Amino acid sequence: MGTVSKINKSHKVDSFDLLPGSLLADKYEVVEQLGRGWEGEVYLVKETAADIERTAKLFFPQRNIRDKTSNFYAKKLHKLRHCPIVIQYHTQDTFVFEQIPIRFLVSEFVEGERLSSFVARQRGKRLHPFQALHLLHSLTSGIECIHNMGDYHGDLHSDNIIVQHYGLGFELKLIDMFHWGPPTGENRHQDLFALIHVFHEVLGGQKQYAKLPREIKSICCGLKLTLILKKFKTVAKLRIYLENLQWH
Ligand SMILES: Nc1ncnc2c1ncn2[C@@H]1O[C@H](COP(=O)(O)OP(=O)(O)O)[C@@H](O)[C@H]1O
Ligand SMILES: [Mg+2]
Repeated sequence: MGTVSKINKSHKVDSFDLLPGSLLADKYEVVEQLGRGWEGEVYLVKETAADIERTAKLFFPQRNIRDKTSNFYAKKLHKLRHCPIVIQYHTQDTFVFEQIPIRFLVSEFVEGERLSSFVARQRGKRLHPFQALHLLHSLTSGIECIHNMGDYHGDLHSDNIIVQHYGLGFELKLIDMFHWGPPTGENRHQDLFALIHVFHEVLGGQKQYAKLPREIKSICCGLKLTLILKKFKTVAKLRIYLENLQWH
């Protein structure tokens, strides 16, 4: 036990920068790098045997001592597997990088676009208030499911939301959850606050706020956490509010 932790602790990796074509655990071929964060790097990979695209999150060993972070993430995704907004977990595996065993987590690859780039493509780089309401409703219902399962997301922002389908409404997937500790009311409040922040951002942010319809402002509450909590308390209440909203 002591030896394992010593080995893990002494290994530090700041970047993998794997090239396309690299093979992980004899099973997954790297297609391209999708991102790099504090915990590790994310790659689009192909399960070679069946030619299926997957996403692999590779953990820096110093951020994943005794596989704690990756196991935690795996358990959380598995627990939330019936929430349609959450990506589906597949498996964990290990590959060797500069003689260091590296844990990686495989999940479904969501075909779509990050919400941040989806919004950046729109005219004026923002959504129409009615589109933004549809987006908020999809997000709220999705997160309500996570909260009902007794959990929280922990890192909601427009790079961690993928627009899978956009038509009459939005079909969204959430990636990249963050573990702040056991689920608490405060964690759920932070999700609620982050949701409204995303809503405000896709509407054009502070620059557009004054010009927005009053029905929209009554949801944003000037981004004041205390006002938001007083008005909605839970994401379920926000969803019900949206479903009963009337334009004047
Ligand atoms: N399951 C997935 N399907 C599709 N794209 C993904 C998936 N997971 C991550 N990505 C892409 O990779 C980027 C980085 O992944 P993320 O998990 O957010 O890690 P980090 O923010 O720590 O780099 C995301 O912004 C997204 O564009
Ligand atoms: Mg992210």
